[in-house]
Amino acid sequence: MDTVATTDFIHVYEPGADAGRPPLLLLHGTGGDERDLLGLGRAVAPGASLLSPRGRVLEGAMPRFFRRLAEGVFDEEDLRRRTHELADFIGWARQRHGLPAPLAVGFSNGANIAASLLLLRPEALAGAALLRAMSPFAKPPTADLGGKRVLVLSGAMDPIVPAGDAQRLARTLSASGASVDHRILPAGHGLSQGDIGLLTGWLGQA
Ligand code: MLT
Repeated sequence: MDTVATTDFIHVYEPGADAGRPPLLLLHGTGGDERDLLGLGRAVAPGASLLSPRGRVLEGAMPRFFRRLAEGVFDEEDLRRRTHELADFIGWARQRHGLPAPLAVGFSNGANIAASLLLLRPEALAGAALLRAMSPFAKPPTADLGGKRVLVLSGAMDPIVPAGDAQRLARTLSASGASVDHRILPAGHGLSQGDIGLLTGWLGQA
């Protein structure tokens, strides 16, 4: 698979006042854009720099980070290609803004590409909070995730992500050496106050 070297992502970069906080890479869900998670990022990590790209794939009019063949059925070749594009963009943004590796905060489709980044380009991220994530690969690649922290927040009533799927992802990441905290909340696919509280606490330990 070719690595596509591109830095051509529509994005927002907000420098943070607190250099001690790791920057956040905000990855929106299907139909979102680069502005969607800025408020969440400011709320859960005050003072952190925020880097928020818009997914480059369009499903109808809805931006996404990679193609899918049906709901929950991913085009894995496209996923790999888009993951490398995003990792290259992160590298470019880090150089341009003088940033350490960010912590990803991804929701839904954004969480799925964050999981793919961890597995395919682990150097791109310091860790990740995966909100309503699924296993991005049928057969996950092996990766060395030693030293990386991952928070997986699932909804017990999520109609899009089967419970076993998020568990499989958490097991894969853990078997790859990441320190994984997987919580299942009494929620659906949307985020709840419980998510915000857990995310804020987890980021506070970074
Ligand atoms: C995906 O396509 O990444 C997942 O089905 C979640 C979604 O975006 O609906």
